Amino acid sequence: MHSPFPYDKLPQGSEFYGRRLELEQLERATLHSNNVLIHSKRRMGKSSLIRYFLESKKESALCIYVDIFDITSKEEFAKALLSALSNATKGDLKSTIKKLASLFKRVRVEPTIDPETLEYSLKPIVATLSFEEMMEDFFSSIRTITLQQKVIIAIDEFQQIASITDVRLDAILRKEIQERSNVSYLFAGSKRHLLTSLFEYKAPLYEMATHFELPALAFEEIEAYVIQYIDIPRDVLHYGCERCAFETKMMQNLFYLLWLRKEIPISREIVDEAIGEIINAKDASYRLLFDTLGNNQKSALKIVGKYKSGFFTQSVLNEYRIKKQTLQSSVDTLFKRELIDKEGDLYFIPDRTLELWVERL
Ligand SMILES: Nc1ncnc2c1ncn2[C@@H]1O[C@H](COP(=O)(O)OP(=O)(O)OP(=O)(O)O)[C@@H](O)[C@H]1O
Ligand SMILES: [Mg+2]
Repeated sequence: MHSPFPYDKLPQGSEFYGRRLELEQLERATLHSNNVLIHSKRRMGKSSLIRYFLESKKESALCIYVDIFDITSKEEFAKALLSALSNATKGDLKSTIKKLASLFKRVRVEPTIDPETLEYSLKPIVATLSFEEMMEDFFSSIRTITLQQKVIIAIDEFQQIASITDVRLDAILRKEIQERSNVSYLFAGSKRHLLTSLFEYKAPLYEMATHFELPALAFEEIEAYVIQYIDIPRDVLHYGCERCAFETKMMQNLFYLLWLRKEIPISREIVDEAIGEIINAKDASYRLLFDTLGNNQKSALKIVGKYKSGFFTQSVLNEYRIKKQTLQSSVDTLFKRELIDKEGDLYFIPDRTLELWVERL
């Protein structure tokens, strides 16, 4: 039977649940052509929310979704935008190609077939074009479309633009975004500090988007969905969510394992067993990750996992045989790599499964 709890792929259709308030918020923002920056702890459901929202808007707006996690040059960025635009209108191939040919001044598109899904998509042919020419084609097309139709452009893993250093993509985007009408931009990404720093005071994109922190799924929304498939008492379900620190991906993984179990009703012991199973399944990859750290960083990660705050004390420093300054600089490095995060005085490991794995060390 098909699992109602996807955890390593984005939810499709009825697999998506909750997020009523957040969808309303996005609805309002795009209605008024505002831009939104969505950030959160890792794996809370930003990409899922955006994809679901765009799917729900596709009758009334041209919805463009682009994930730029793998771009390594400005040209690839421009090409990703063009490709997303080319594939945003899913109609019959011939008329779409014709329409794109009239929109683009220089770019040509060609149909390709995905060998895995056997689905057609359109590929922009841009080898001879410069970055500026591609960007010009993209944004002038958007301007033309917005004369007739609302456009929503979602750029996921947006922090990647910071890795392109030969041009300031944020400054270029600022100019385009400022001159827009009838278009909303949604920005999201998984490295939240890098992402939000792009919108900080004095940065080109400062005040160009409303910031919106995606909270955890509301417990009532989780419960309403989960009890349709799993026989689990309310307090046990809440316990499970808490063990996952309400990280959506880990909760979905937990629900999936509970859904497979035959024992009913589900008890706390079964929840603990399933969580153990999740941690074990990640053991090999966490070992590899741990091995990339120097000894001081390893200690720092263990300390953060165990103490969360107030760990610059002599007894902790003695226990781990580490100097205060060394611990501080290791903590800073882990923070920069976004392996650890901070809220108020409290440090935590944003990957909840890794946090539990570290606690076991
Ligand atoms: N509303 C939802 N309904 C059902 N499943 C969800 C929902 N939100 C998230 N998920 C599940 O959680 C997983 C992680 O969500 P997603 O990838 O959207 O998070 P993210 O915030 O974009 O993560 P990252 O910080 O890594 O970019 C998804 O693969 C999906 O299986
Ligand atoms: Mg994401």
